[in-house]
Amino acid sequence: MSEVRAPAPPRRHLLSIADLTRADVERLLDTASGLAGSLDREVKRLPTLRGRTVVHLFYESSTRTLASFELAAKRLSADTMSLRAAGSSVDKGESLKDTALTLAAYGPDVIVVRHPAIGAAQLVAHVTDAHVVNAGDGKHQHPTQALLDLYTVREALGRLDGIHVAVVGDVLHSRVARSLVQALRLVGSSATLVGPPTLVPPELAALGCSISHDLRAIADADVVYVLRMQRERMGPGETFVPSLREYSALYGITPERVRPGQVVLHPGPMNRGVEIDPRVADSSAALVTDQVRAGLVVRMAILYDLLTVPAPVSEPARVEVA
Ligand code: NCD
Repeated sequence: MSEVRAPAPPRRHLLSIADLTRADVERLLDTASGLAGSLDREVKRLPTLRGRTVVHLFYESSTRTLASFELAAKRLSADTMSLRAAGSSVDKGESLKDTALTLAAYGPDVIVVRHPAIGAAQLVAHVTDAHVVNAGDGKHQHPTQALLDLYTVREALGRLDGIHVAVVGDVLHSRVARSLVQALRLVGSSATLVGPPTLVPPELAALGCSISHDLRAIADADVVYVLRMQRERMGPGETFVPSLREYSALYGITPERVRPGQVVLHPGPMNRGVEIDPRVADSSAALVTDQVRAGLVVRMAILYDLLTVPAPVSEPARVEVA
């Protein structure tokens, strides 16, 4: 007798902000808000994803993204497995495709991928049956970071639309900036990219934002979003600023340059004294720790949403948080 298989449910991925509608963003952020209550409970684990498996495949350094994805999966009772390139068979020359196929053989429901090559998460989505989440592919996309940034902004300012964000620093090499500009546009907000012409070249205006090489442009912004110099994405011997000292003098975010009422975000890791003055990093205007906390609930919401919401719906997903 031939075996009759039920058709596989459609897989959903989060590879780019372009995968999302405004309703998707609002649903994910509302789900994250619903989950936030679980963080302050004595028993923090929810049974929602019991029996599901989430694999983290990280080919680049990570502190916040990996820690929060791991914890998010655990808090939802999923089984988790994390593989970093160093110490795995990647060291022995195994390709991303073969590593993904090997991990897919264990039947994971979700694979979270970070990789220095643009399109890496897309490749994993192509060769496996898992739902795939892009945790950063080269300088291309980092959609979960943009979502946690929107969540942080919404918590701080009480709304998502009509907000103006100045993104300051090494935008050229930043997937965070690319995803954030796209996400801000999706929810009716705007961005200005600020930095030297070498790090904020004119063609970045094609992302749908304005550009300035003068730090005074941050005065109009509700949010100052600071980026570090991403040297790991610069070629050997390539320099984009005469010196870090000069960069800091022109573009470093100091207390004098932050207007009262503005909030300051940074995706981390911060290079204190280079792009951000420690006095700003430690001030009440800086929402860096809020971003880290948001990362946990937003990633819980993303895992929950991918695995339990069958198709995009306009209603917020209901999560039982008693
Ligand atoms: C960012 C990244 O890896 O793209 N960090 C993060 O995910 N929190 C930004 C950076 O490395 O500068």
